[in-house]
Amino acid sequence: MEKIKILAIVGSLRQNSYNRQLAVAAGRVIGDRAEFELLDYSDVPLMNEDIEFPAPAAVARVRAAIKAADGIWFFTPEYNHSTPGVLKNLIDWLSRPVSETEPRVLIGKPAALSGITPGISGTALAQDHLVMLISFINMKIMNQPRLVIPHAREQADPDGNLTLTASAPYLEEQAQAFLDFIEANRP
Ligand code: FNR
Repeated sequence: MEKIKILAIVGSLRQNSYNRQLAVAAGRVIGDRAEFELLDYSDVPLMNEDIEFPAPAAVARVRAAIKAADGIWFFTPEYNHSTPGVLKNLIDWLSRPVSETEPRVLIGKPAALSGITPGISGTALAQDHLVMLISFINMKIMNQPRLVIPHAREQADPDGNLTLTASAPYLEEQAQAFLDFIEANRP
């Protein structure tokens, strides 16, 4: 059987984003158990039905990446107790039909959710709102385990580079659970 392909989507465009670093760490944890790639969607325009068809090149590119993936692993911060606008915008694009004959690319895709915050519980609400969005689109959500890592700075050096020492076992637990979940939900 072909190797599982996991696509990571980070809900922050910040260069030294904790959530991006968590995604990179997750890729290391996955190791050779699956292919693992981070989606770059920084060039996706704001959703506007006036430019929806034909799809802008950036949208076509991210749709192709989603289509090729067996599972989508979200890593998101919380903005004002909700999902960051950049991620909502991406999901809005991905929720739309490609053409009259092709299905929407997120339907049925296994999804896992994680997040890290400098605060205490921030990312939990963002993840809840993300669940609401992606369940409406009919993704297959792994509701447990989800990962909420608090106090990011305690697991980072003074330059903001994460070490994640204390969280490593939880990341491993979620990685294995997601691999099993994808396997169990393979078409
Ligand atoms: C935040 N932040 C934040 N944190 C939180 O715990 N609850 C919240 O509601 C918010 N709201 C919020 C809104 C906006 C517009 C910004 C820019 C930030 C702080 C946020 O969690 C922090 O900046 C994280 O470090 C962002 O994640 P990355 O970029 O490090 O992955």
